[in-house]
Amino acid sequence: MAGDVIELILADHRRFEDLFRVLRDNSADRLGALRELAELLVAHAEAEEGEVYPALRRFQDIDDHEVEHGAEEHAEGHQALLALMEVGDPEAEAWDEKLEELVKAINHHLDEEERTILNDARDAVPEQRRRELGEIFVKARAARVSAGCGDISHVRDLVEQTKHRVD
Ligand SMILES: [Fe+2]
Ligand SMILES: [Fe+2]
Repeated sequence: MAGDVIELILADHRRFEDLFRVLRDNSADRLGALRELAELLVAHAEAEEGEVYPALRRFQDIDDHEVEHGAEEHAEGHQALLALMEVGDPEAEAWDEKLEELVKAINHHLDEEERTILNDARDAVPEQRRRELGEIFVKARAARVSAGCGDISHVRDLVEQTKHRVD
């Protein structure tokens, strides 16, 4: 049993925050943390957009605009992630600046997603359906990881494909 999709999404969000702390720590394996973050962040966003958001939109009480806006914020996050991956060296001067921008973009999205989409889902989606979606979310996320979704080439493609959402 995978569990409630809301709890699974929240657990990923907390993991992102843990990884941000590692990415700030000059005694830590920051490149390892960036690889893990890239994989989990992209897999999470793609599983939300591919499976969870469309399922939630079918519930009347879930605000379509919030869901669309969530996808825009994913695109912004991927752009900021790519910028940090392109710096590539935690010792480089640009690392801190690009990290700050990434943390800002993602924290903004987590805050908004938790307050809007996830709270709406708590109110509107029955527990049984939340569990089904949890299972679907976990499978989709694992499939994205297996496909190498955190590779810089994929992140680059993603940024290219979703550019129109950010402009
Ligand atoms: Fe999320
Ligand atoms: Fe999201």
